[in-house]
Amino acid sequence: MSPSTSRGRDPASAVAAKAPVLTIDGPSGSGKGTVSRLVAHALGWHYLDSGALYRAVGLAAAWEQIDLSDAEAVAACAARTAIRFDGEGEGEPRVWVNGKDATHQLRMETAGAAASAIAAHPQVRAALTDLQRSFRRFPGLVADGRDMGTVIFPDAPFKVFLTASAGERARRRHKQLKEKGVSVSFDGLLHEITARDERDASRAVAPLKPADDALFLDSTGRSIGEVVQQVLAVVPWSSAEDPPARPSGPR
Ligand code: C5P
Repeated sequence: MSPSTSRGRDPASAVAAKAPVLTIDGPSGSGKGTVSRLVAHALGWHYLDSGALYRAVGLAAAWEQIDLSDAEAVAACAARTAIRFDGEGEGEPRVWVNGKDATHQLRMETAGAAASAIAAHPQVRAALTDLQRSFRRFPGLVADGRDMGTVIFPDAPFKVFLTASAGERARRRHKQLKEKGVSVSFDGLLHEITARDERDASRAVAPLKPADDALFLDSTGRSIGEVVQQVLAVVPWSSAEDPPARPSGPR
């Protein structure tokens, strides 16, 4: 992942726009985050966790005591919020919001719910569009989210829609949170996840849905390793010794 999320398109963007993108969209708890990071690592590509951007804006808006239903105010907050990801590799990167390490807070289900609420505003989505596209750099990008294949990178050559049953997704989230020392009730989590998915799938703008040209994968009952292999198989040169050369010139 780019170490910094500087806004706007740089002069190299015309060249960078040609870098290959693998989009991995799907509902919460489908394993997208872990799978995307492992796939990006295996390919040696950059990684965009677009959900973290929405979570960060939700958090920054809460810090500023902005009413999350006020689309214009949250969009203005999105435009001035500095978000920085630290660390590229198999592990979860640390996320800094306006200079504060917000990694732990961002993983809470409350941050997910706030993200889902603000993500329904078209103005907020528009405020984050260029930033997300600026992650497209050589040698390639793995972009994880809800609308990566449909809205942000519709021309991506590789698209996957990853899902799993609601029960399995809640079980995975529960385990993840437990490992991080966060205790939540399973039933409460299942309810929150289902409500969030319904809101994400039914919103008017950029709803959660597979792109027409996405490969649909159901990870229920599959190990992370199996899913990673299935996703890697989508990128034709993932096991080839010589990936296509990047064009010369600025990156
Ligand atoms: O993926 P994650 O659970 O971190 O996303 C949090 C929320 O952010 C989602 O429930 C969704 O509402 C929103 N989101 C989105 N579009 C994306 C990524 C996340 O609307 N591309």
